[in-house]
Amino acid sequence: MQNVLVTGGCGFIGSNFVRLVLETLPEARIFNLDKLTYAGNPANLKDVENNPHYRFVNGDICDQVLLERLFAEEKIDTVVHFAAESHVDRSIEGPAEFIQTNILGTFALLETARKFWITSPQPPSPSPRFLHVSTDEVYGSLGDTGLFTETTSYDPRSPYSVSKASSDHLVNAYYHTYGLPILMTNCSNNYGPYHFPEKLIPLIINNARNGKDLPVYGDGKNVRDWLYVVDHCTAILKVLQQGRVGETYNVGGNSEKQNIEVVQTICDILDEKVAPLANDQPRRSLIKFVKDRAGHDRRYAIDASKIKNELGWEPSVTFADGIRTTVDWYLENEEWMNGVLDGSYQDYYARMYDER
Ligand code: NAD
Ligand code: DAU
Repeated sequence: MQNVLVTGGCGFIGSNFVRLVLETLPEARIFNLDKLTYAGNPANLKDVENNPHYRFVNGDICDQVLLERLFAEEKIDTVVHFAAESHVDRSIEGPAEFIQTNILGTFALLETARKFWITSPQPPSPSPRFLHVSTDEVYGSLGDTGLFTETTSYDPRSPYSVSKASSDHLVNAYYHTYGLPILMTNCSNNYGPYHFPEKLIPLIINNARNGKDLPVYGDGKNVRDWLYVVDHCTAILKVLQQGRVGETYNVGGNSEKQNIEVVQTICDILDEKVAPLANDQPRRSLIKFVKDRAGHDRRYAIDASKIKNELGWEPSVTFADGIRTTVDWYLENEEWMNGVLDGSYQDYYARMYDER
């Protein structure tokens, strides 16, 4: 792991991962290829932008000419592929970008890696690795019981999860057909610093802090399995360094919560930490049950025993601790949030929530 191409490193998980690698593997050189969509924010990596082992490249993973130049010039021997359109609600509103980036972008990366690592007479390393970061949403929706394992059949149901499932199939095909040394992680819901406030937890923190409505879809009883983002990043690093090539590893937090419980917890933490609302009401009074998401998956929950048994990885942060750390981070980083809440965010928010 010498010359690492991280795609989507200016997003939520990618930026946490870049920071972790620079801290823990000082010899590695990181090339962060990011198109800077609405979700990509250079401020997420401001603290490392002058690190000599880090280089930002503004570009699109669908641009194969650019990919080939990067692989050739920087002798890329490791790919950690985060770049994606990642928000389910946006995929319902407009799926085209999801097909483009998540499927065709992954295809362009795979083709480039095949050209430089398999077809080339001079590969950059005897053991290159391509780690594809995927999601538990590819498995569909669970009933009241059961867990997703690595052998659960794929049953994606939103344009987002279908695009991720398609990319997973392509990645696996490149292993079986061409021998490309791939690894894959399918992870549950992340939360933590630098999370874009279109997603439940940062949206609720921001709105609750500012006395705005807290939109809860449907009956609020959909369940997600929450994992603190740094734990996801340590799992990815572990799989990259010690995982078996060609394998998939599920990653989860062992922390199932109904959405309403997550929202209430955030309200209570904020009531404790910041000034009360103008009318002295608890923040839970801001909760509004709104129209449900179309095709809303009911429950996700991960069986993470494979990564635990094979690689010794387990989540280190409980939800109770992680959510407090996360609320504190948002309270201390108001400037970051103000930078994110621009005009395009306000337009998105109005489109999403006014009609609900
Ligand atoms: P994000 O939306 O915060 O960040 C995505 C990043 O990719 C942004 O920086 C964006 O600018 C960049 N990007 C988008 N299209 C691009 C393109 N065509 N070329 C180059 N860069 C592009 O996403 P995230 O939440 O950090 O998720 C990262 C990855 O992890 C995704 O693949 C997602 O499917 C997966 N994942 C996310 C979660 C989660 O809870 N957030 C859980 C499991 C898996
Ligand atoms: O499971 C992994 C996935 O988790 C990742 O693959 C996705 O990239 C990531 O966005 C996330 O998807 P979800 O759809 O689960 O996350 P989101 O934060 O959008 O929603 C979490 C739950 O909260 C979901 O049941 C919908 C609900 N919700 C969401 C928003 C934004 C609300 O009730 N109100 C809201 O305003």
